[in-house]
Amino acid sequence: ELRLGVLASGNGSNFSAILAAIAAGQLRAEVTVVVYNNPTAKVAERAAAAGIPAVLLDHRAYETRVAMDQAIVAVLRSHRVDWVIMAGWMRRVTQRLIDAFPQKILNIHPSLLPSFPGLAAVEQALTAGVKITGCTVHVVELEVDSGPIIMQAAVPVLPDDSAEKLQARIQIQEHRIFSLAIALAAQQAQKLAQQSESISIR
Ligand code: GAR
Repeated sequence: ELRLGVLASGNGSNFSAILAAIAAGQLRAEVTVVVYNNPTAKVAERAAAAGIPAVLLDHRAYETRVAMDQAIVAVLRSHRVDWVIMAGWMRRVTQRLIDAFPQKILNIHPSLLPSFPGLAAVEQALTAGVKITGCTVHVVELEVDSGPIIMQAAVPVLPDDSAEKLQARIQIQEHRIFSLAIALAAQQAQKLAQQSESISIR
C-alpha cells in the first residue's frame, strides 16, 4: 500500500477524487497527510471530513522557498510519506523537496504538456485557439511543469467554450486519470527497483 502525501493550494477536488478511488478499491493507497498553503483553501475542509490530518504551511511565513520546502519535507517525513501528490499545488518547488523524494513527486496540470505550462493553462489554450487540450500527470522536476509524463487525457475545445466550461470538462478527466497515473508510476518504480536488485545479485 502506497503512503501518499497530498500538497494542495485550493479547492481539492483532485484530492477528493483520489480518496474516492482508494475507497472504491481502485488504488491501493492511503493519504496520510495533506499540506496546504492558503488558510482559506477548501481542501482543509475536505480533509477534515475524511479524517485525514491537514497541515497549513503558509508560504508567507517563510523567508525563502527552500525554508518552505524544508518545512514541507519535515511534515511529509513525520507522516512517513512515500509519494508526494501535487493536486492543485500552486507553488514552485526547489531542489530541497525534489531531493527528499527523488522521482516520487507527481503533479497534475490542466493542459497537454509541454503546451501551456505555468499559470492559467486553460486560458492559454483558449487564447491559442487549439482545438484539443487536456491534462497531464508528470513526475516533478525543477523547471515548472516539466518532467517525465506518466499519463495524459485529451479534451476537445468547443466553439462556445469559456474558461470555466473548458476547465470543468478538463477536471472530469483529471479526476479520472490521477489515481490511474499514481498506480502506474508506483508500478513502474517498483519494477525498476526489482530490476536493479537482480542486476546487483548477478
Ligand atoms: C487542477 O485543475 C489542476 O490541474 C490545476 O489546479 C486545479 C486544482 O483543482 N493545477 C495547476 O494549475 C498547477 N499548475 P482542485 O483543487 O479542485 O484539485
